[in-house]
Amino acid sequence: MRHGYSGLMNDEFVELGSRNVSGIIQRGGTILGSTRCLAFKAEEAQVKAIRFLRQREIDALIVIGGDGSQAGAFALSQRGFPVVGVASTIDNDLYGSEMTIGVDTALNVALEAIDRIKVTASSHERAFLVEVMGRNCGYLALISGIAGGAECIVLPEVETDPESVASELRQAYERGKTHATVVVAEGAKYNAEGLSSYFQEHRERIGFDLRVIKLGHVQRGGTPGVFDRLLATRFGAVAVDHVARGEFGVLVGLIKGQIAPTPLADIVGKRKELDLSLLKLADVLAQ
Ligand code: F6P
Repeated sequence: MRHGYSGLMNDEFVELGSRNVSGIIQRGGTILGSTRCLAFKAEEAQVKAIRFLRQREIDALIVIGGDGSQAGAFALSQRGFPVVGVASTIDNDLYGSEMTIGVDTALNVALEAIDRIKVTASSHERAFLVEVMGRNCGYLALISGIAGGAECIVLPEVETDPESVASELRQAYERGKTHATVVVAEGAKYNAEGLSSYFQEHRERIGFDLRVIKLGHVQRGGTPGVFDRLLATRFGAVAVDHVARGEFGVLVGLIKGQIAPTPLADIVGKRKELDLSLLKLADVLAQ
C-alpha cells in the first residue's frame, strides 16, 4: 500500500515480491511512502478503505507506524478487518513497545550532531542549545542528552522555566566549565524558540555566549543502524506469523527484550511513561 492510509483510501495498491524488496535493508525512510492522513479518522474513510481491501481480496493488513497509525489499525480491526500493528516511530512514545523502529537510529544521528556541535562549543567556549524531535515525548532528548553529556535537558514531561535553564548554565560556568550543551525536546513548553527568545533578552544570566540549533528532520534521515535493522526484521517476521496463525487486533512490540503482542485495544489512547529517574542521573553527570 503506497502512502499509508491516504493510499488505502485512494486504492494505491502495489504488488511486491521478494525481488522488489531486495537491497532495501540499508535504506532509511520507507519505499512505500508515508503521509499524515487525518481524514482516516472519519468513519466514511475507514469504510471506504475496507471496501477496497475486500475488492482486492486482501486477507489482512500489517500497519507499520506510531500511535496515529495504530489508532487507525484499531479502528479497522473494530470494523472487522484483520489487522496486525508493528511498532514504528522515532518518538518512542508508543505504549506496548519498549523500543520502536527508528528510535535507535534517530538517537545516533542526534548524538553524532551533538558530538560535532561540542567541537565548536569547546573551541569557542560557548553554550549550545540543541533541539531534538520527539513530538510531545522527551525520550529522544533525554537519551541523546545523557549520551551526549548535556549540562541541562529540557523535556515536555517536566515543567522547566527559562530561568532555571539559565541558572544551570550559569552554575556550570561558575564551576569552571568552558562550554555547555542544553538538549531540549521540541515538545517542551520552552523549546528552542521559547528559550532563545528569553536568552536574547537575558544573555547576562547564562555566562556563556550561546547558539541555538534545531536538528529537525535530519534525525529521520540516514542509514538505519544494526539495532533498527534487526528490530524491524524481527517485528516483520512475527507480524507475518500472526497473520498466518489468524491472530489479529494486536501490536507487535518489544516487551522485556522479547518480541511480544499487545491487543490494540490496550494501547490506543495510552501514553508510554518516560523513566524520569534518568534525568537525575543526567544531573549528577553534569556536575
Ligand atoms: O512522529 C515523528 C516525528 O518525526 C516527530 O518527532 C515530529 O514532531 C514529527 O514527526 C514531524 O512531522 P512532520 O514531518 O509531518 O512535520
